[in-house]
Amino acid sequence: MKHLILAPLRGFTDAVFRNAFQSHFHGVEEAVAPFVTSIKGQRIKPSHLKDLAPDDNRAMPVVPQILSNNPDEFICLANALVDLGYREINWNLGCPFPMVAKKMRGSGLLPHPDIIDRMLDKTLHGISGRLSIKTRLGRFSVDEMDRLIPVFNRYPLARMIVHPRTGVQMYTGNVDLKAFQVCLTRLSHPVVYNGDINDLATFQFLESGFPTVSGWMLGRGLLANPFLPEMIHSKGRLIGSRNIRFESFHDDLVAGYSCLFSGPGHVLDRMKGFWRYFAADFPDGRQIMKQIRKAASLGRYRQIVATVFDGQDRWE
Ligand SMILES: Cc1cc2nc3c(=O)[nH]c(=O)nc-3n(C[C@H](O)[C@H](O)[C@H](O)COP(=O)(O)O)c2cc1C
Repeated sequence: MKHLILAPLRGFTDAVFRNAFQSHFHGVEEAVAPFVTSIKGQRIKPSHLKDLAPDDNRAMPVVPQILSNNPDEFICLANALVDLGYREINWNLGCPFPMVAKKMRGSGLLPHPDIIDRMLDKTLHGISGRLSIKTRLGRFSVDEMDRLIPVFNRYPLARMIVHPRTGVQMYTGNVDLKAFQVCLTRLSHPVVYNGDINDLATFQFLESGFPTVSGWMLGRGLLANPFLPEMIHSKGRLIGSRNIRFESFHDDLVAGYSCLFSGPGHVLDRMKGFWRYFAADFPDGRQIMKQIRKAASLGRYRQIVATVFDGQDRWE
């Protein structure tokens, strides 16, 4: 089953990206949005949920994600999101960054199944929407899953999204497919696979190895090659000029961030971030990246990118 989901990538897959992506590419059924952190108090300011404003999120179904270890804060934020019209809320149990994990959030909670148990018990009684979880295999070791799976199985979760690395692995090393298989067999919820789907061959390999997976989440591979979902659905065949489609998508990103951010410097920084991924799919990507990194103004950036697109025959 090819149910493809856009991964949450904070700083990248926000509403501007999601809308631009849907205007130019196909094949993604839904997105999990980058996390929103729960906050103290019972009042959620609209600015905290700016990226999830319903009017800006009509292009594709979106599941908001919460980073929290406090059930009361979680319930308050989740219910504010349900009031906006969201039906499923995702709990982030995967964030690997030490600053987050040290505060027992994200993957920092995985060595503490008792806390997760209490959190789920209280939260599921308090929220009106459905709850899903995005998790890694553990913080320090995949063995942590032995104690986590029975906890997850006790609750009526919508689904489990599993990125088969540990938290301390960050984004290095290989995904652990053996440990993923154990999760897939033992979890009683629908399971989504996430991690290193960077090309069609990898997708096909994983699809044949894990036929019972309920969905596939694509992150960095989709940023580097936004045609990837279409290639997965069509076994590699694409319609239309890739150069023109990619350039139009790029221009929509620049236009979207120019509206969102208060100054051109922020737009420039954001676009430089994207090129760390885009460049990987260009034959002379390193050279392009070097030039773009040096751009000191948005005007100069536009000139460089125009030359890059003019000189491209990478696909046709
Ligand atoms: C820059 C960046 C930001 C991320 N932000 C989030 C996030 O907000 N929430 C989350 O659950 N995962 C986040 N992740 C993890 C991704 O969703 C995904 O699990 C991971 O990148 C592995 O999938 P991939 O190999 O397809 O990218 C982030 C990853 C990166 C590289």
